[in-house]
Amino acid sequence: MALVGGAAEILMKFKILLSLILWINTFALSQAYEHPGQYRYPFIRPASSFTEPPSAAESRGASKTYDYIIIGGGTAGCPLAATLSQNFSVLLLERGGTPFANGNVSFLQNFHISLADTSQTSASQVFISTDGVINSRARILGGGTCINAGFYTRASASYIKRVGWDAKLVNESYPWVEKQIVHRPELVPWQRAFRDSLIEVGISPFNGFTYDHLYGTKIGGTIFDRFGRRHTAAELLASANPDNLHVLVHATVQKIVFDKTSKRPRAVGVIFKDENGKQNKAFLSKRPRSEIIVSSGALGSPQLLLLSGIGPKADLEKLNISVVLDNEFVGKGMADNPLNTIYIPTNRNIKQSLIQVVGITKLGVYIEASSGFGQSMDSIHWNNGIVSAEVSTMFLCVCLVYSNE
Ligand SMILES: *[C@@H]1O[C@H](CO)[C@@H](O)[C@H](O)[C@H]1NC(C)=O
Ligand SMILES: *[C@@H]1O[C@H](CO)[C@@H](O)[C@H](O)[C@H]1NC(C)=O
Ligand SMILES: *[C@@H]1O[C@H](CO)[C@@H](O)[C@H](O)[C@H]1NC(C)=O
Ligand SMILES: *[C@@H]1O[C@H](CO)[C@@H](O)[C@H](O)[C@H]1NC(C)=O
Repeated sequence: MALVGGAAEILMKFKILLSLILWINTFALSQAYEHPGQYRYPFIRPASSFTEPPSAAESRGASKTYDYIIIGGGTAGCPLAATLSQNFSVLLLERGGTPFANGNVSFLQNFHISLADTSQTSASQVFISTDGVINSRARILGGGTCINAGFYTRASASYIKRVGWDAKLVNESYPWVEKQIVHRPELVPWQRAFRDSLIEVGISPFNGFTYDHLYGTKIGGTIFDRFGRRHTAAELLASANPDNLHVLVHATVQKIVFDKTSKRPRAVGVIFKDENGKQNKAFLSKRPRSEIIVSSGALGSPQLLLLSGIGPKADLEKLNISVVLDNEFVGKGMADNPLNTIYIPTNRNIKQSLIQVVGITKLGVYIEASSGFGQSMDSIHWNNGIVSAEVSTMFLCVCLVYSNE
């Protein structure tokens, strides 16, 4: 009898568990596009969860203001928000969603699938330059690290000097990133052959595995781990002070708000649209060193400055945007790296790999390779910039040759 009683009890527990699972499922379905794990950290929320301070006039000095508002949660915005949140209150605004539960972003074998997805919710947004080159930019927390080929290297000493950074501080900062998201790659056969070929044609010396920027051939870092899982800049938010940071996703900033009462206009807040199309305003605290930081990418940053009234006066007036600051350089002088690709079709099954080995010549030419992302008749087709072979071959190896100076 004891056995039967025990079985009944187990059955009852099972029923409770089952109804709990069903309830969780219903709950999940009612949450529209939300996936479990999508928000990973409690400080990441959809933009619609934002509650505005009672009125714009009260807001500066009222409770909900920030020492820093960072526009753009990409490769720069995420680590910046994590660092500043140690000592200051920070609001990070990102127009895209999160990468955490997105298989297109998370796995190496989906690299091309992400680039091919041209839908509104894709992590990658296709654009065409004025001279007709197809390219992609990121639209997701983690930015370019969610859609690029994941190669990691330290900057060259000459670059650090040119941009005027503190070389010692830069050196001290590298391990912070490297410990969290960078891995040593396990070379696949194609990458080993590519390394040997570079050395054979004289891209020397061979520097082995190193993060340093050195002339010759080297094995660099990768943000893909040995299981082919991508680790993005969004993971650097793990280092944030959770009490000081708010991250809003699906928050599209439309304009920076300026206080024009003093002689020099001062950026005091932002207007952003949430995922339901509702407009919200967020403001800086009165701390004298409060700042709005624009880290919206090479295209997004000048675009936002222009929309906010910073740029060439004539261009702004043509669009009826009131001029805050006349600056002739905003939105001008943009250029990408010239790039040549060589495709090597093969009907053998080649293991997929992205950039692991690089050859760097003294002329500033970079030679890289990837493999296994071919297009067959029934595979996904795409035509996005650097990986745009319109060929019907099973497997493919690609050499990228580009110049950086
Ligand atoms: C935070 O403040 C402390 C004390 O002033 C300082 O030592 C530390 O470097 C600051 N951290 C950051 C990330 O700025
Ligand atoms: C992944 O990509 C496919 C096709 O490119 C698309 O249909 C799908 O919605 C994408 N998934 C996510 C989570 O974005
Ligand atoms: C930074 O590290 C590199 C090696 O990675 C070294 O060559 C350079 O001298 C260091 N710079 C400073 C200022 O410590
Ligand atoms: C230009 O802006 C002014 C005021 O901001 C507005 O009254 C006017 O209708 C706008 N004109 C156009 C063509 O959008």
